[in-house]
Amino acid sequence: MFKAVVFDLDGVITDTAAFHFIAWRKLGRSLGIEVTETFNEELKGIDRMASLNKILALGSMENRFSKEEKEVLAQEKNDFYVTLINEISPADILPGIEQLLHDLDAQHIKVGLASASKNAPKILRLLGLAHSFSTIVDPAALQQGKPDPEIFIKACEQLQVQPEEAIGVEDAYSGIQAINAAKLYSVGIGDKHMLKDADYVFGDTAHLTFSKLKEIWGNRAL
Ligand code: BG6
Ligand code: MG
Repeated sequence: MFKAVVFDLDGVITDTAAFHFIAWRKLGRSLGIEVTETFNEELKGIDRMASLNKILALGSMENRFSKEEKEVLAQEKNDFYVTLINEISPADILPGIEQLLHDLDAQHIKVGLASASKNAPKILRLLGLAHSFSTIVDPAALQQGKPDPEIFIKACEQLQVQPEEAIGVEDAYSGIQAINAAKLYSVGIGDKHMLKDADYVFGDTAHLTFSKLKEIWGNRAL
């Protein structure tokens, strides 16, 4: 049996992707750059500054701003994003997640969070789920963001398990690459084609149950 599950937050525990999109689109428009829903897919899992750099590159503005000016733009996006997420409540927990966290706890399986978001502790508090996670990786302390494996390796270290004993759950392409490189068993949530490198993909969190995880873990190729 697996000893730990490491969750991504945005798009797995709750659907904040729409809020990130609204906030980036607003910032993009203020610069004359149109962030489309398709382009937003590429921003999933990617940290705040890397996302800003991608948006600036989209508008061929990658060299227009100083580091300090970019900090101001990223802060502006975050200030707006935070006003949007302030409304989050336990009703925004994605289907099946509370039951799964309950079952993992009952089975004494460790649970960690590996999110690129510096807002993650606040979001977990708003969802009423802070107590369900025994560890949260601090993204500010990392050298590399997803798709680098660092965040998932760090989560396993903090949980005191080997990556090979753990499952990682992600909705983003970059996140699946990170889990695979860290050598956890990768579970994707979303589109099978986009997440084709995942060891197993669930269409949505409602299907992500403890019994199904046990089954796919038992059937995994060793
Ligand atoms: C990830 C999201 O979880 O966190 C990204 O998928 C987001 O879209 C990143 O940019 C960083 O979040 P934050 O809250 O620190 O700006
Ligand atoms: Mg995500």
